[in-house]
Amino acid sequence: MGSHSWLPMFIVATTLAAICRTAESAYEADKIVKLPGQPQVSFQQYAGYVAVDENQQRELFYYFVEAATNSSSKPLVLWLNGGPGCSSVGAGAFSEHGPFQPNAAGALVNNEYSWNKEANMLYLESPAGVGFSYSANSSFYKMVNDSITAKDNLAFLQKWLVKFPEYNTRDLFIAGESYAGHYVPQLAQLIVESGSNVNLKGIAIGNPLLEFNTDFNGKGSYYWSHSLISDHTYHLVKTMCNFSQITRESLLRPSNLSKPCEFVATQIRSESPSKNFDSYDVTSDVCLSDGESQLGSQKQHSLASSFHPISSLKSKQSAPRKQEAGGQSIDLCVQDETSTYLNRKDVQEAMHAKLVGVTSWGFCSDVVNYDHRNLEIPTIGVVGSLLGSGIRVLVYSGDQDSVLPFIGTRILVNRLATGMGLNTTVPYKAWFDFDKQVGGWTQVYGKNNKLSFATIRGASHMAPFSSPKRSLALFAAFVAGRPLTA
Ligand SMILES: *[C@@H]1O[C@H](CO)[C@@H](O)[C@H](O)[C@H]1NC(C)=O
Ligand SMILES: *[C@@H]1O[C@H](CO)[C@@H](O)[C@H](O)[C@H]1NC(C)=O
Ligand SMILES: *[C@@H]1O[C@H](CO)[C@@H](O)[C@H](O)[C@H]1NC(C)=O
Ligand SMILES: *[C@@H]1O[C@H](CO)[C@@H](O)[C@H](O)[C@H]1NC(C)=O
Ligand SMILES: *[C@@H]1O[C@H](CO)[C@@H](O)[C@H](O)[C@H]1NC(C)=O
Ligand SMILES: *[C@@H]1O[C@H](CO)[C@@H](O)[C@H](O)[C@H]1NC(C)=O
Repeated sequence: MGSHSWLPMFIVATTLAAICRTAESAYEADKIVKLPGQPQVSFQQYAGYVAVDENQQRELFYYFVEAATNSSSKPLVLWLNGGPGCSSVGAGAFSEHGPFQPNAAGALVNNEYSWNKEANMLYLESPAGVGFSYSANSSFYKMVNDSITAKDNLAFLQKWLVKFPEYNTRDLFIAGESYAGHYVPQLAQLIVESGSNVNLKGIAIGNPLLEFNTDFNGKGSYYWSHSLISDHTYHLVKTMCNFSQITRESLLRPSNLSKPCEFVATQIRSESPSKNFDSYDVTSDVCLSDGESQLGSQKQHSLASSFHPISSLKSKQSAPRKQEAGGQSIDLCVQDETSTYLNRKDVQEAMHAKLVGVTSWGFCSDVVNYDHRNLEIPTIGVVGSLLGSGIRVLVYSGDQDSVLPFIGTRILVNRLATGMGLNTTVPYKAWFDFDKQVGGWTQVYGKNNKLSFATIRGASHMAPFSSPKRSLALFAAFVAGRPLTA
C-alpha cells in the first residue's frame, strides 16, 4: 500500500476511535490493556475507582472480568470477601476464582476453573476500605460497621452500573464468603428496600457468618470430630465455656477473658496446633517460609484473625502444591505470590490502583477499625426476608473449614427453612462433580428450589482456592438455576 493512503486511513481510524470513545468513555479509562505477566486472553478486564460518598472522598476499587465467552448473555456476579476488611481482589480474584493466579516467578497462570467461564465477575475491593480502596479522610476508618458498609456497597453498585450501563438490566447475583455472610445479605436487602430496578436474582454465601452463637458453637463438635481437641477438652467446651463465649470475650477484651473461658481457651491452644496448621483447611499442608510458617502463633484463636484468610505466610522457596481430590494441583503459596504481585508498581499501574493512606497492599486491613460488635448481628433473618422477596439463595460450606464449619451453617439453614415453612424439595444427599465423584452433600427447600444448602467435599474456608473444580461446578449450577447433579 502506497504511503499516500496512510493519512486518510489515519483520519478514518481516529474518527472511529473518537466515536467509540464517546460511547464507551465512561469505562474506557478503566480498561486494563494487559496485566504484567498475563497470558493472552480474549475477554476484557477493567479496574478502577468508584466514589461512594457525595464529597467524592471515599472511593472503592473494583476489578471487573468479562465472561470468557458470550459475555453479553451471561449474568453479572458481584463478589465480596470477608474479614471484616479483607480484599476481594487479592483473595477472591487472584487466589480463588479469577481468571489468573500469580506464580512464584511473578507471572500469571490461567485458572482453568475461573468463574468467568459462567459469569461476568465484578470484584469489589474490601467494602471495609482496604487494599486499593481509599478514603481521603482517614477518620472514616475509625468507625466502620455493617450499616456503613452496606450503604457504601449499594452506592458502589449503583454508580458502577452508571459506568457500565449495558449491565443495568442484566441478571445480577451477589456472592461472597466468610464475613460476607453479613455483607452479601445486607447489600441484597438494601437493594430490595431501595426499590432499585437492578435485576437481583440470587445470592450465594460460602462458609458464612450468619448467627454468632450457632456458627461458633459448631466449632466444638467440629474440633472434636476432626481430632483437633481431646474428649476431655470437648467436655470442658460443653460444660465450662463454649466457643461462642470464648470468641465473644476474645473480641471484646482479648487479653482479659473470664477465668473459665481463659482456662478452656488455654486447653484448646495446647492441643490444637498453633503453627504449620491451617485452621481454614484442616486437611491441607501450609505454605512454609524457610521451613517455618508464620501462621498461627498466639493469634490462632483470637477473633480478629480468625476471619482473615491466612495472610502472614511468607514463601521464598518454590511453592508446595497439593492435589485437589480427583483433580488439579493447588498452589499453597498463592496468597504470598498474590501479595508480591499486587505490590508491584507495574501491576498497580496496569490496574489503575493507588495506595492512599497505606504503604503497601495487604490481604486484610490493619487500617480499618471495624466495630466488632457487628459480628454478633445475626443475618440469617435477612436471608429469610430475601427468600420472601423471591430471591434465590445458595448457602455452601467447604467441609474442611474449622473457622466457620458447616455444622452451624447446616443447622441455621435447616432452621430457617422450617421456620419459613419451606418444605424440602431435594432431600439431603450427595451431589456429583464434573468427574462423577461426590462433590459434597446438598439439601434444597421451597417452591422453585429457592433455598439450597450444599457442602463442598474436601474444600477449605476459601473453597474456590482449595477445590476449584468442584466450586465451579457448584457455581455453574447456581447461576443457571439448575439443581446439582444427583
Ligand atoms: C454463545 O452463544 C451462541 C448463541 O446463543 C451459542 O450458539 C454458542 O454455543 C455460545 N457459545 C458458548 C461458548 O457458550
Ligand atoms: C471525616 O470523617 C468524619 C467521620 O466520617 C466526619 O465526621 C468528618 O466531618 C470528616 N471530615 C471531613 C473534612 O470531611
Ligand atoms: C454504624 O455507624 C453509624 C455511624 O456512626 C451509626 O449511626 C450506626 O448506628 C452504626 N450501626 C451499627 C449497626 O453499629
Ligand atoms: C455458650 O455459653 C454461653 C455463656 O456461658 C451460654 O449463655 C450459652 O447458652 C452457651 N451455648 C451453648 C450452646 O451451650
Ligand atoms: C477484666 O474483666 C473483669 C470482668 O470479667 C473486670 O472486672 C476487670 O476490670 C477487667 N480487667 C481489665 C484490666 O480490663
Ligand atoms: C409442606 O408439606 C406439608 C406436608 O406434606 C404440606 O401439608 C404443605 O402443604 C407443604 N407446604 C407447601 C408450601 O408446599
